[in-house]
Amino acid sequence: MEKTLVILKPCCLQRGLIGEVIHRFERKGLQLCGMKMMQLTDDILREHYAHLVEKPFFKRIKDSMEASPVIVCCWKGIDAVQVVRAMAGPTNGRQAPPGTIRGDYSMSVQENIVHASDSVETAAIEMARFFNNDEVFEFNQYQLEFLYANDEL
Ligand code: TYD
Repeated sequence: MEKTLVILKPCCLQRGLIGEVIHRFERKGLQLCGMKMMQLTDDILREHYAHLVEKPFFKRIKDSMEASPVIVCCWKGIDAVQVVRAMAGPTNGRQAPPGTIRGDYSMSVQENIVHASDSVETAAIEMARFFNNDEVFEFNQYQLEFLYANDEL
């Protein structure tokens, strides 16, 4: 099964949406395998948003992501990366369809509630960036046979 990284951004914490967002992933049937609160720093953000470091809005990204602690979490499931991206919705909250996290809770490109890994390769890199091995847990998900068909497992 795939694992993917989600960051609940400072706007999510400040707006009291932690429970709402985690509840959605839980109800979907994804398994929470790791979760911690942390304060992001310039160094980790330069690495995490390396593809955007040269953009004029990079300082705004940094300021926004450092504005308060974040919660990083690892979610596991079949095709978890694509499932979580679809649940997050497009980057711009004003364009994200209702029913997605950004579509339901965000009016902004920046203050868009969550970060979610965009590919299986990126997810592995991002998991290693934010979690130590002993912070990610492998344990039985007892309702597995009611979440998936036998031939999907
Ligand atoms: P990106 O990784 O492209 O989007 P996503 O979070 O949907 O994978 O962008 C990272 C963050 O950078 C995004 O959450 C908000 C900010 N951003 C802008 O403010 N303007 C932009 O044009 C882009 C592409 C990103």
